Amino acid sequence: MSATAETVRRLTVVDIARMYADGERIPMLTAYDYPTAQILDEAGIPMFLVGDSLGQVVLGYETTVRVTMPEMVHHTKAVVRGSARALVVADMPFLSYSTPDEALENAGIFLREAGAQAVKVEGGVRTARVIEALVRAGIPVMGHIGLTPQSINAAGKVRVQGKTRDQARAVIADALAVQEAGAFSMVLELVPEQLAAAITERLHVPTIGIGAGVGCSGQVQIITDLIGLGDFIPKHARPYLRVRDQIREAAGAYAADVGAGTFPGPEQTVRMDEAVLDDVLGRGSSDRPTDSIPIGGIPLDRDL
Ligand code: KIV
Repeated sequence: MSATAETVRRLTVVDIARMYADGERIPMLTAYDYPTAQILDEAGIPMFLVGDSLGQVVLGYETTVRVTMPEMVHHTKAVVRGSARALVVADMPFLSYSTPDEALENAGIFLREAGAQAVKVEGGVRTARVIEALVRAGIPVMGHIGLTPQSINAAGKVRVQGKTRDQARAVIADALAVQEAGAFSMVLELVPEQLAAAITERLHVPTIGIGAGVGCSGQVQIITDLIGLGDFIPKHARPYLRVRDQIREAAGAYAADVGAGTFPGPEQTVRMDEAVLDDVLGRGSSDRPTDSIPIGGIPLDRDL
């Protein structure tokens, strides 16, 4: 075992609570695959969300409603394999937690089979009973209030939640219900910054904002937005890289090199002992071709 493997320990919700108590702002990112999880772990990101946003940003669905348990489990396993330190939160997909029993069964799959350390569920007051059942069973839960994308078909469209008096009261009630139910933290999505800050001040568990201003206890961003991989960057995101452009340039350069016959080059190529090949092909050394193999390949008997 390497020194790193010996010393690195998986963070738990207790570590997140400690960061919060110490006043540290908590950076969280989504991760959907093994190599990205490795890189984010190396970068020291303490908490990953295997978000059902994977439906849109990785699988090409129009909404998160189409995402299934098997898809979430598949990606959660990859993220867990790719990370040694981060706390991995698996997002429970649409209709996987409609009742406490169903929630327990599916959350159990995330923790037992996929290796996640916590799950996330959308909804405040309406989901409190489910959160309570999960927490009572020893499953750490992250809530998710404000905009809840799994409700898109009922809500009609993506919009900021909490601008009117009634909405703001409802978001506050949701936050208190999620905390009361025992969640260790909660995502506040697309909430005006003053409301998000006021909620954060009134809670004793961390709020993790996305499009909710800087007054939250931490922030979560979609990894594809952060690195500029997607075809659309939402207003709340800041792309720190433009990977989409870089991949397009790399693919173009590769295609040009293949076309020009400059890829693979000597560094990407292996050679063998010519005498061995002479034996295998039954030819004398004087019959060796001087030029490289023609583009159309060596003619087959039927072409001669
Ligand atoms: O699915 C997801 O990535 C999320 C974030 C937007 C918080 O729920």
